[in-house]
Amino acid sequence: MSPARAAVLAGWGGALPEQVVTNHEIAARLDTTDEWIRTRTGIRERRKAGPGESTVELAVRAARDALRGGRADAVVLATSTPDQVCPASAPQVAARLGLGTVPAFDVNAVCSGFLYALATAAGFISSGIAQRVLVIGADVFTSLIDPEDRTTVPIFGDGAGALLLRAGDPSESGALGPIDLHSEGEQAELLWVKAGGSRCPVPAEPRERYLVMQGTSVFRQACARMAESSRAVLEQAGWMVGDVDRFVGHQANIRILQATAKQLGLPADAVVANIDRVGNTSAASIPLALADAVAEGTVVPGHKVLLSAFGAGLTWGATLLTWPSLD
Ligand code: COA
Repeated sequence: MSPARAAVLAGWGGALPEQVVTNHEIAARLDTTDEWIRTRTGIRERRKAGPGESTVELAVRAARDALRGGRADAVVLATSTPDQVCPASAPQVAARLGLGTVPAFDVNAVCSGFLYALATAAGFISSGIAQRVLVIGADVFTSLIDPEDRTTVPIFGDGAGALLLRAGDPSESGALGPIDLHSEGEQAELLWVKAGGSRCPVPAEPRERYLVMQGTSVFRQACARMAESSRAVLEQAGWMVGDVDRFVGHQANIRILQATAKQLGLPADAVVANIDRVGNTSAASIPLALADAVAEGTVVPGHKVLLSAFGAGLTWGATLLTWPSLD
């Protein structure tokens, strides 16, 4: 049964750090090539946060766009790289935005974090806790990357994206549809940072504070799980695959996006991608891809848009909406 109060899209925004890091720059100092990175991942360049460009800073910049001068009465920040391990970063974002004492907290589901944050925000709205929720995905994921590791350096970048959700009617354009979320903690080691948390606060050796990734296994599971979750929300919404105009998947690898679209039976031109310019920005990936697609006219009002993500945890999920016209 549809909730009486739906979460309806009311704004969006994105923000990137200044510094561009090209494949050529990476190839100049690590054992890799521009060609390998482009053909294996689809990435040409990514952004790297400099001094002062923290997760809070990028989140505030993306959120200002999404709010466009309006207000929010709750803030949910998806991140796995908060400015400090404790406290959460969302209250600092809310304060910087002048939102007063609104509820504000972080959600950590790594690359699927934005979908988990959307679900949380939709719950706040349907339960009446809030009317307008700012949902941000922001990560300075390069802070977790070993600068000497050629298997992760080319892939990850920094950024932030945000959506504003307001209370509305489920039949409205922009109303968030069904949400499907999952996790599989037994496979946490496929993609993790071993030290720095409560189990091992101080790394036994410096590299333990960096992300390690078993790329091939992650690749296979990402395609299967995103396709599975996408089918689940399509079925719940009563949409056919042919109804979908745009597939905005987590931007981890262009081949993952293409393979997932193929598994779903979507045409290649339904795939929305900005990975060539930003790499994998973790929780920022989906809202940044949306903001870029709207700016470029790739996503327009009336488009039926399918969102899906997969990431560390493991975690994955999907949701969908019809893109609204916001005048
Ligand atoms: N430059 C050159 N060679 C590289 C390289 C690089 N930057 N990184 C890895 N290689 C090498 C590997 O060492 C391996 O060499 P080997 O065969 O001698 O062992 C070879 O390239 C192939 O590696 P493989 O892992 O089989 O390649 P792949 O086709 O799976 O592509 C990834 C590697 C990482 C791009 C791919 O697995 C991937 O995108 N995985 C998912 C990552 C992801 O989504 N992470 C985040 C999830 S949110």
